[in-house]
Amino acid sequence: MLTHSDLRELQTNSLKMQGWIRRQTFSPENEKTLRRFSSWEVSELILGLNQSTFRGKMAADPSLPAGMVEPEGRQRWFTLDEVNILRRKINPRGKSLMPERPQGRAFRTAIANFKGGAGKSTIALHFAHAAALDGYRVLCVDFDPQATLSHSMGLTDVSEEQTVWGIMARDLINETEAQNNVPKGAASGTALPRRSIPSSITDLGLQRLRLADFIQPTNWPTIDVIPSCANAAFVEFASAQYRHLNPEWSFFAAVNRFLDQLPDDQWDLIFFDCPPAIGYQSMNAVFAADMLYIPSGPGYWEYDSTTSFIGQLSEALEDLAYGFEGALSADKVRLPKAFHDVRFLLTRYEPGNELHRAMNSAFGKVFGDKLCQHPVEMTRAVEQSGRFLSSIYEMDYRDMTRETWRRARESFDRAYGEFRDVMLPHWRGGADALSADKVGEGVDA
Ligand SMILES: Nc1ncnc2c1ncn2[C@@H]1O[C@H](COP(=O)(O)OP(=O)(O)O)[C@@H](O)[C@H]1O
Ligand SMILES: [Mg+2]
Repeated sequence: MLTHSDLRELQTNSLKMQGWIRRQTFSPENEKTLRRFSSWEVSELILGLNQSTFRGKMAADPSLPAGMVEPEGRQRWFTLDEVNILRRKINPRGKSLMPERPQGRAFRTAIANFKGGAGKSTIALHFAHAAALDGYRVLCVDFDPQATLSHSMGLTDVSEEQTVWGIMARDLINETEAQNNVPKGAASGTALPRRSIPSSITDLGLQRLRLADFIQPTNWPTIDVIPSCANAAFVEFASAQYRHLNPEWSFFAAVNRFLDQLPDDQWDLIFFDCPPAIGYQSMNAVFAADMLYIPSGPGYWEYDSTTSFIGQLSEALEDLAYGFEGALSADKVRLPKAFHDVRFLLTRYEPGNELHRAMNSAFGKVFGDKLCQHPVEMTRAVEQSGRFLSSIYEMDYRDMTRETWRRARESFDRAYGEFRDVMLPHWRGGADALSADKVGEGVDA
């Protein structure tokens, strides 16, 4: 017979192995750094200029950052900060190279599906990187205690308080206090019973944290992250207890309330990487999102799993719509939750594979124009980048054949480009719907 103590022992052994794998897969200083980008990449792939125009602009203005030439190299290599200066300063034929940025708050996209391996974290990472190279300032929220995205962005030393759990527990305390302070008979007419939150939660000091304490810089200068960590796996369990402490707590709106307090103009695009389940964390992600992006592998069982995901998500959202009508009076969200758009994106797609092509057309028949035109192709370089994903944008094309790198990059570029084309009209037109009057609180991440 085996009990929890046997499980504990198995885990202890497993943790030892995990530590060893980490030491093997990280650079000695345990820090993930961002490479420089060559003048070929900067001109043609990032700024969209031909190389001779770029060279001309560089020659004409000595105040532009000149990048660095490697020993024996011919090209100049630029940091992302330098690329962003070039983007601001170069105006070919009077035209700005800055990306379109509608007024109002950042646009939020949740990348969600059941099942590990659907490609959620890979898409979140690549969209974040592609958007940063496009000139946007990006915030990612890692809702998955497996923390793939956080690790991939160079964050390995994260404590639970700094994760979505910290945001949720802090929200529980604040919301309960606010409910307790509503004068009897006010608003809805019926006073809520007084709730108390045990000191084991209030003593954590979460109320004293500033918004900025939850947001951390990454190895990319224009990407910040609200990270996760393996220890945050208890969040689902804790959240169920929290709901019990205060059944009127609109648990699913905690992260939305947090994001609504951030200044409008500090970030442009926000991506949520979701856990492989429908639970308290993924409901928070979905509820705070303007758009859902649902990645799926191109196989039968992945199709099955995607189908049951949307069914269960629909049920969960419907339940909220009828259970919390009164609870959100002070929030800027309405029930039922409405999305600007929902898209399905095939990943790990092999154009030469007959099954994949058949699945693509099946998805197309079922989901119509909700299926992205450009699936993300299977890429060995990404597959083999290891436990801590590296994006194709981070990889140096000199480490593989240029053609392999280019094809992979083109696939992710097309998927990101389609995302941007789908998203922008909502962002432009959605100033009212997305935005909210709010008290701006400065944040330096
Ligand atoms: N386009 C792709 N080409 C090659 N490998 C991929 C691709 N997308 C995902 N993978 C691999 O599949 C695995 C699972 O992907 P991941 O994004 O972590 O899924 P999820 O976040 O949904 O669990 C990872 O090892 C990743 O490297
Ligand atoms: Mg993942």
